[in-house]
Amino acid sequence: MFVCFFILYSCLLPACGGVCKPHTRKNEKTMFSTGDVILGGLFPIRRSVMEHKSDLNCPNLLGLQWAMTMVFAIREINQNASLLPNITLGYIIHDDCYAIPKDLEVGLSFLEAKIHIDEDSKKMCSPKALVGPYSSSQTTVLSTALGLFLLPQVSYGSSCQCLSDKKRFPSFLRTMSSDIHQIRATIMLIHNFAWLYLGSIAIDDDYGRSAMAQFVLEVEQLGLCLAFSEILHQQRWMEVMFSPLSVCLSAIL
Ligand SMILES: *[C@@H]1O[C@H](CO)[C@@H](O)[C@H](O)[C@H]1NC(C)=O
Ligand SMILES: *[C@@H]1O[C@H](CO)[C@@H](O)[C@H](O)[C@H]1NC(C)=O
Repeated sequence: MFVCFFILYSCLLPACGGVCKPHTRKNEKTMFSTGDVILGGLFPIRRSVMEHKSDLNCPNLLGLQWAMTMVFAIREINQNASLLPNITLGYIIHDDCYAIPKDLEVGLSFLEAKIHIDEDSKKMCSPKALVGPYSSSQTTVLSTALGLFLLPQVSYGSSCQCLSDKKRFPSFLRTMSSDIHQIRATIMLIHNFAWLYLGSIAIDDDYGRSAMAQFVLEVEQLGLCLAFSEILHQQRWMEVMFSPLSVCLSAIL
C-alpha cells in the first residue's frame, strides 16, 4: 500500500513542476525527481496495458521493487559527497506494463526531448541514459530505435545473447550475463549426467529463439542427439509450463 501511494505522491511533489517537465500522458503516473543529469527508467509495474484502467492496483510487486531500487541507488549516490561531487542525479521512471508499444512510446519521448523537435519538447526532461526495460524482446525492439541516437541503455533483465551484437545495439549494456553462459552451464550439466537423448522447447520471441539456436548449435557440436526442438507460442507456453509433466510432453510431442 505504501509503495503504491508513493508513486502517486512522488508526482504530486513540487519537483514535478521543476526545471524540466517529465514527458507523460494525461493521468499517467511516473516517479520523478529533477537533477543535473536525469536517468530514465522502464519497469514492469503492472502486468498489462489494460490494467492502466485499474489505478493504484500494484500486481507486480517485483517490478515495483526494481523501480524502488533505482530510486534508492540514486538517492544514495546523491547523498554521498565523494561519489558524484556537485552533480545531482534525477530520474523519470515509467511503468511499461511489460508491453513493447509502451516501451517505444516512452523511449521515443526521451528522444523527442533530446532532439528538441519543437518549443514544447525543449521544456521536457531529456534523460541522458535509460535503465531497462526488463525482457529481451522489449529491449531488442527499443534498442534498435535508441541505438540510432546512441542513447545509453542498461538493462537489468535482458539476457538474450543477440544483444551482445555491438553493430546492432551499439549503445546497449546490461548488468546480467548473456544467455550464452546459461546455455554453457546447461550443456555442462548434460555432459556431467551423460545424457544422450535430449529435447528442447523455447518460447516464441527473440529471447527463446536466440537461446534455442545457440543450444542446438552447442548440442550438435558435442555430437549429442536432439530428439525435438520446438518453439511454442507465448500463450501455449504458459499452458504447457503450468501443466503436469505428462500433459506438457503430450502437448509438445
Ligand atoms: C560514499 O561512498 C564511498 C565509496 O563507495 C564510501 O566508501 C563511503 O562510505 C560513502 N559515504 C557515505 C557517507 O555513505
Ligand atoms: C564543488 O563545488 C564547490 C563550491 O562551488 C567547489 O568549491 C568544489 O571545488 C566543487 N567540487 C568539485 C569536485 O568540483
